[in-house]
Amino acid sequence: MKRIIALFLMSVVLCQAQDYEFPPGFLFGVASASYQVEGAWNTSDKTESIWDYLTHTNPSVILDNSNGDIACDTYSKTDIDVELLKNLGVDTYRFSLSWPRILPNGYNDYIDQDGVSYYNKLIDSLLANGITPVVTIFHWELPQSLQEIGNGWLNRDTVDVFVDYADVVFSLFGDRVTTWITFNEPHIFCEFGYSKARMAPLMNLDGIGGYECAHNLLLANGRTYRLYNEKYREIQQGRVGITLDAAWYEPGSDSEDDVLAAERSMQMLLGWVAHPIYSETGNYPAVMRERVDAMSEAEGYQTSRLPYFTDEEVEIIKGSADFFGLNHYTTELCAAADSFDSEPSFEADSGANCYFSDNWETTGASQFRVVPWGFRKLLNWIKSEYNNPEVIITENGYGDNTGDLHDCRRIYFYNAYLSELLKAITEDGCNVSGYHAWTFMDNFEWASGYTIKFGLYNVDFNDPDRPRTAKMSAYNYKNIIQTRKVDW
Ligand code: NOJ
Repeated sequence: MKRIIALFLMSVVLCQAQDYEFPPGFLFGVASASYQVEGAWNTSDKTESIWDYLTHTNPSVILDNSNGDIACDTYSKTDIDVELLKNLGVDTYRFSLSWPRILPNGYNDYIDQDGVSYYNKLIDSLLANGITPVVTIFHWELPQSLQEIGNGWLNRDTVDVFVDYADVVFSLFGDRVTTWITFNEPHIFCEFGYSKARMAPLMNLDGIGGYECAHNLLLANGRTYRLYNEKYREIQQGRVGITLDAAWYEPGSDSEDDVLAAERSMQMLLGWVAHPIYSETGNYPAVMRERVDAMSEAEGYQTSRLPYFTDEEVEIIKGSADFFGLNHYTTELCAAADSFDSEPSFEADSGANCYFSDNWETTGASQFRVVPWGFRKLLNWIKSEYNNPEVIITENGYGDNTGDLHDCRRIYFYNAYLSELLKAITEDGCNVSGYHAWTFMDNFEWASGYTIKFGLYNVDFNDPDRPRTAKMSAYNYKNIIQTRKVDW
């Protein structure tokens, strides 16, 4: 009897097996971010970033009152970690640079050579093992000293200082790093950091701070891209892109209002930063401009809460990326919401109320549900909205609260999402060239501390050595990379 059941289960699996293969040249990797893994928060001359400062001065903002002081201690474990990456068989490793580790003053007046040596060692040993580094210049670690001068990213001067920082890292590492990401998730960083006080630097200028911050990030991205073109592209032959986060927003019903609300959410959550860079206009989506202008006027503001670009700035920003980095985790349903008369906020501006279906599988992170089909729809939306740009999936993954090695739901997640990605590439012609699982190992998950674990590797945070152990999902991912197929 047992044999019959086993044969039946096998045939079900085989019937579902997809014939598609990931195309030649498609790259698989894993991703991480400096503050979430490095530790060594005050080694050498490194100063505090806004996340060091937040966790040290306001620990109760973090669910388990924890911080990234030690985190996974990747700072002292380069050899161990590169060996794990090699075993996993990844083509690429996406990691970020800690700005205050390289430039402790924020400015380019002093470079900490110990910080530089750490990244040199990591880059060199990745390359020696056949792994291509994909480097994020800013994954939320603004030097605290710059936050204190004129409110960080609300200050136009921070744009200049960032471009100087980017110049330093291009000159230090650009002979070996050829895939650069300027910013990670401007929407999350700016909204939660400057509008909603849920992340560093904990400012709560709702309806204003997020827009100002993203405006400056867009300028900084554009200026950095132009700098690379002028000074480095010919010699270093690299590429510079940006990573944007996007859920898929599905209409909550067939009503015209809900269909419009879902599209408006796509435009305002993804288009907000994507449209200026990837559309022909070099500017914010028309629907966003209309909505925020109208809301601001109704609220009695003299000018729109959404800032304007000059014509010259539009030219700098338009087309300022060689690829489209995409972080995707979930799908939401959207219904139209009448939000005039409410306090200024991004949600009110978007005029949509987005929520989860009760039928969708929950995850350890309350903001994410498992909805694989939304991934394919999102990729098709980007394809048609922005003329099929080259997309690199810079993050996609599943968080639980246990760190369990027998992580079946994570395996299900990766198989299901990668299968939708394969369909988007092979059936729909979406131009996706690479994929990074979030994340390499369990780490500091921002305001959730260590309570949510996304890793392919478990880290024992009770052990000072921070030992890493492969979860079942690591073997599953390794198999996908080797076979270039997904069991589905
Ligand atoms: C996106 C962020 O880039 C990353 O830092 C974070 O850990 C994951 N989302 C999971 O929430």
